[in-house]
Amino acid sequence: MNKVIYLDYNATTPVDSQVLQAMLPAFSQHFGNPSSRTHAYGWAAAQLVDQARTTLAALLGASPEELVFTSGATEANNLAIKGLAWTGRKRHIVTTAIEHPAVLETCDSLQREGFTVTRVPVGKSGVVDPQEVAQALTDDTLLVSVMLVNNEIGTVQPVAEIARLCHERGVVVHCDATQAPGKLEVDVRKLGVDLLSLSAHKFYGPKGVGLLYVRRQKPPLRLEPLLHGGGQEAGLRSGTLNVPGIVGMAKALELAVHNLYGERARQGALRDRLREQLFAAYPRLLENGDPAHRVPNTLNVSFVGVDSGSLVACLPRLAVSPASACATAKPKPSHVLLALGRTPEEANSALRFSLGRPTTPEEVEEAARMVAEAVSKLVRK
Ligand SMILES: Cc1ncc(COP(=O)(O)O)c(C=O)c1O
Repeated sequence: MNKVIYLDYNATTPVDSQVLQAMLPAFSQHFGNPSSRTHAYGWAAAQLVDQARTTLAALLGASPEELVFTSGATEANNLAIKGLAWTGRKRHIVTTAIEHPAVLETCDSLQREGFTVTRVPVGKSGVVDPQEVAQALTDDTLLVSVMLVNNEIGTVQPVAEIARLCHERGVVVHCDATQAPGKLEVDVRKLGVDLLSLSAHKFYGPKGVGLLYVRRQKPPLRLEPLLHGGGQEAGLRSGTLNVPGIVGMAKALELAVHNLYGERARQGALRDRLREQLFAAYPRLLENGDPAHRVPNTLNVSFVGVDSGSLVACLPRLAVSPASACATAKPKPSHVLLALGRTPEEANSALRFSLGRPTTPEEVEEAARMVAEAVSKLVRK
């Protein structure tokens, strides 16, 4: 089989070999349950979790007791938003039109429970205006949830500025930072957020593990748990901890931070090369999301007049996404692209290319060549 070129790193990433090596002892040798407090197997597993928690906290600018391990960002987002809403203080939530479904659908479910939700629009740039968020706040606003990096178009949101404006009004801020590690610095204190979600498989860690940062200082933030049981994670997330996953996530974040600046420059240059080649092949290309406010690995472009479903069908040796991977089960135009003001036809002609640490210049050249050939075939039809 000819090799398939993978340019869908925003959907998921392979586990880094160093991450896998770090995880292996936690599967077999140190297989104990960290909640087993009465024997050496439990202590060894608890020690691995403590070490990973300390590493992750230091890398994120948090304290170890501020991290709650979850099954991924979907659960972390649900815990942040529903967990805060269910504390029952206020009834209004503000989010943005371009969030991931793990935030938007969670807000929708609270709306069905009687909460009010405002979805702040974004302009053509795909960047939320902090003043528009501030204007949406009312005396009843409990929470603002805004992502750091958009998964479909890669735009970076002004989270620190939004957090500053919200805190002036006593509003809690949650940030879905799932797409940020390895692309941007993620530091909860610098961002000034109260809650922050991550998922390890987006940064060369394993699937099925993530975390929620919950501010425990000045004053501690209280959440209602979604899951009840053994009371792990200070009662916020019951369930036996995924020790190999947590160990892997810590190693993966360490590598993401270590490689950040080198990879930003390298992937940015490759992405720009891809962009150049695609524009040369198809001058009617529309670029989605402001290039000046975008992470270096992502390129989302509409091949106006070409259906993206037909285009990917003509690209069996290229793994790219016609919309966001999480949304492709629903054959609707991307809500993110519609929010930018794209027509449904333009949205349905979009492909997302997302590069990663393993991406080579040869892969980018070959991908651009394959896309150019497929597009010209479809346009001639
Ligand atoms: C921005 C964002 N938030 C949340 C998620 C959900 O992450 P997971 O599927 O790991 O729970 C994703 C996954 O695509 C994402 O890109």
